[in-house]
Amino acid sequence: MPRGYDALRDVLASNSNSPISPTLTRPHISNILNDPISPTSMSSSSIASQPPAPPPPQSIPYNPTKRFTPPASVLIPLTLEEFESFKIPRNALRVLAQRPDPALENPNFFPPNIANAKRKREDDDESGSQKRSRDSGLVVHHYNSRPDVGVHERRESPIIGLKNFNNWIKSVLIAKFAKRAFEGAPPPPPGDLKSRGKVLDMGCGKGGDLQKWQKARVREYVGLDIAAVSVEQARFRWEQLRGKKFAAHFAALDCFVEPIASVIPSATLIPPFDVVSMQFCMHYAFENETKARIMLDNVSKYLRKGGVFLGTVPNGEWIMNRLSPLSPTSEPAFGNSVYRLTFEEHLKKRKYPTFGHRYTFFLKDAVENVPEYVVHWDHFTKLAEEYSLYSIYREEFHDIFQSEREDKEFGALLQRMKVVDSRGVSQMDEDQWEAANIYLGFAFEKR
Ligand SMILES: C[S@@+](CC[C@H](N)C(=O)[O-])C[C@H]1O[C@@H](n2cnc3c(N)ncnc32)[C@H](O)[C@@H]1O
Repeated sequence: MPRGYDALRDVLASNSNSPISPTLTRPHISNILNDPISPTSMSSSSIASQPPAPPPPQSIPYNPTKRFTPPASVLIPLTLEEFESFKIPRNALRVLAQRPDPALENPNFFPPNIANAKRKREDDDESGSQKRSRDSGLVVHHYNSRPDVGVHERRESPIIGLKNFNNWIKSVLIAKFAKRAFEGAPPPPPGDLKSRGKVLDMGCGKGGDLQKWQKARVREYVGLDIAAVSVEQARFRWEQLRGKKFAAHFAALDCFVEPIASVIPSATLIPPFDVVSMQFCMHYAFENETKARIMLDNVSKYLRKGGVFLGTVPNGEWIMNRLSPLSPTSEPAFGNSVYRLTFEEHLKKRKYPTFGHRYTFFLKDAVENVPEYVVHWDHFTKLAEEYSLYSIYREEFHDIFQSEREDKEFGALLQRMKVVDSRGVSQMDEDQWEAANIYLGFAFEKR
């Protein structure tokens, strides 16, 4: 049986509710299967030069209900130019994702005044990458190699409901805490009364929050991330933003090993930030105490007094409540069809370390077994106080939903961000809803 039969059968089976499938007769299938396309007949030149094959005899009317292309266009063969042009994706974000790490490829990836500082650091210390821990290397590789998919592909994600929900949570946190902090920012220059405030987005990824910051009318944005390909994608997204643009600077940096001043020009650090945001990122710093302290130093050092540190992070207490009851003879892992946390071993006498409490995390269509660390909240808040950061908010995602869903602004946003449809029904199934509550939202004030 030629390969492809099962796929075809699956397609026919999955179309069994469509009006045309019941009349798709066996001879059609066997014609396709008995007529394999030879590899040579698929070469680009033959695509352009062969006359189009006559359409097969139609026993049923071709009447698709979801049409993406103009009628009849599918029967016109590609020209050689079209064939060549489709080999190179037109979406520049995808082109970027296929490139190797620009920091490795190009020593001038950092702005020129920063490249010297970076080069000096590397001279002092054999190689920056040697210092990078094995786990950080896995994190960088994972995020650099994840493609930045377009809107259409995103909509097809099997966990699109959960992704939309996480975006809604981030929008709520930004509106609740960042906007307030921006009001205390130095007044904007005459002529530009609407935008104000400065934000540092540590672990900015591919710039998924740029529009949220634009809506919050930020004046200046700095995005840093350890994954250089993601940083380039974020920069590209900012360039493509429609509407009122804010000033933005981007750089690749391991924010838990290096000071941010090594890549951000000093003029950009004055005046200090009003907000530091760390979304789904801070837990990577809890590999050891040194990293957690450098992370907190980077958050606090250039945050103004009264400024806000906000973010989202896996809830250590929620994780421990699932890990602790597991029998010592069972696998130290839990999850469902959407997510899985796998610990290395059951720790003797259940003594859990404050730092370096490692697990690998899987989240369907998002994170593929990347090493992460439990953030034990009480230790974290105590440590944060040493950096003048005081907790003002900590809520599990389910509770944020409960308390903000009725809010006039955030309730309307639920529908606009497609967390729920016009009937108020969520796209999330039970497993996605459970996975959503792995995380909590937090805010600290610098005093
Ligand atoms: C789950 S993604 C979140 C990205 C973005 N904040 C968002 O919400 O869309 C986690 C991000 O943290 C970044 N990250 C992990 N360790 C980091 C480090 N040491 N320094 C800077 N960024 C880091 C990763 O590269 C990745 O982009």
